[in-house]
Amino acid sequence: MKKIILITVVVLAGVGLAGLSQAVITGSGHDLTIVDGSTVTQICIPCHTPHNADTTIADAPLWNHTATAATYEMYASDTFTGTPIGTGPTGVSKLCLSCHDGTVAPDAFTGHTAAMTKLPATIGAGGLGTDLRKSHPISFTFDAALVTADGDLKLPPAGWMNGTKFECSSCHDVHNKNNLGAMLHIANTNSALCLSCHVK
Ligand code: HEC
Ligand code: HEC
Ligand code: HEC
Ligand code: HEC
Repeated sequence: MKKIILITVVVLAGVGLAGLSQAVITGSGHDLTIVDGSTVTQICIPCHTPHNADTTIADAPLWNHTATAATYEMYASDTFTGTPIGTGPTGVSKLCLSCHDGTVAPDAFTGHTAAMTKLPATIGAGGLGTDLRKSHPISFTFDAALVTADGDLKLPPAGWMNGTKFECSSCHDVHNKNNLGAMLHIANTNSALCLSCHVK
């Protein structure tokens, strides 16, 4: 009896650890094969392709998804001092917005006829829309110079930044590596995510 319980505990612990260490796109919001009525048969293909990638968005990783052509209102405030990288969202943020601004269907990608409903342009319902004044600033340079100039910031753990570029991926992991709510790098319990960069 004792042996069986012990084996069960060991097996469960093993499953738990494996769950923690795996990248888990499968079953997440980014698994477009499981959406009702989906005609997508591969997990990576709505976003990536090994060949014939779409180069509309600069520096994108073998991108396959139709790029957004929307124009945006960018964040501004009296105290925001970050230097914008471009005139609108750039890099990874623009990749995210190609589904999350609600103007392009999630399954609009090369060689595929889009059938899914576009994400709603409403925060809380999966989409951000194009008025980015309502969201945390993105697409600006976050480096040691800004830390010094601001006095209330610190650089986040390795892997949260694309070099010195602050993008959606500075808070979110698009591949849902940690399997946390909202695909965050760390859970925001007691504002732990915010306090990774803001010294408050
Ligand atoms: C919903 C869209 C989406 C899906 C699905 C997706 N990716 Fe990505 N992937 C991205 C984005 C966006 C980036 C850029 C992220 C960044 O730079 O932080 C990226 C970056 C990458 C990179 C380069 C950076 C890194 O993380 O190593 C690799 C490799 C990659 N993806 C592989 C894959 C593979 C393999 C799959 C399928 C198992 C996959 N991705 C599924 C959106 C996606
Ligand atoms: C190919 C389209 C596509 C791209 C590109 C994409 N997403 Fe998504 N994302 C979706 C869909 C579809 C959902 C599921 C929406 C739903 O459940 O209503 C989703 C869900 C999410 C969620 C909610 C997950 C949850 O657990 O509640 C977050 C956060 C998110 N995406 C962030 C991002 C970020 C950040 C990027 C870029 C790094 C990105 N997405 C790129 C299509 C995409
Ligand atoms: C400063 C950190 C941060 C940045 C930058 C950020 N997010 Fe989020 N995001 C969060 C947190 C925290 C949540 C969960 C709490 C909430 O829902 O408000 C979230 C929730 C979401 C959701 C799920 C909520 C919903 O509407 O269903 C989506 C989708 C999303 N983010 C997409 C994005 C995209 C796209 C970008 C870039 C344009 C982005 N985020 C930039 C921190 C961030
Ligand atoms: C990866 C680092 C990082 C994370 C995580 C992060 N921030 Fe930020 N945040 C910044 C940087 C850098 C700025 C730009 C500061 C500046 O230039 O004034 C900023 C700007 C802001 C601003 C605007 C400041 C202004 O002067 O207009 C607010 C408010 C804010 N963050 C709150 C939050 C909250 C709340 C969270 C958690 C949900 C969060 N941040 C998570 C790095 C981060």
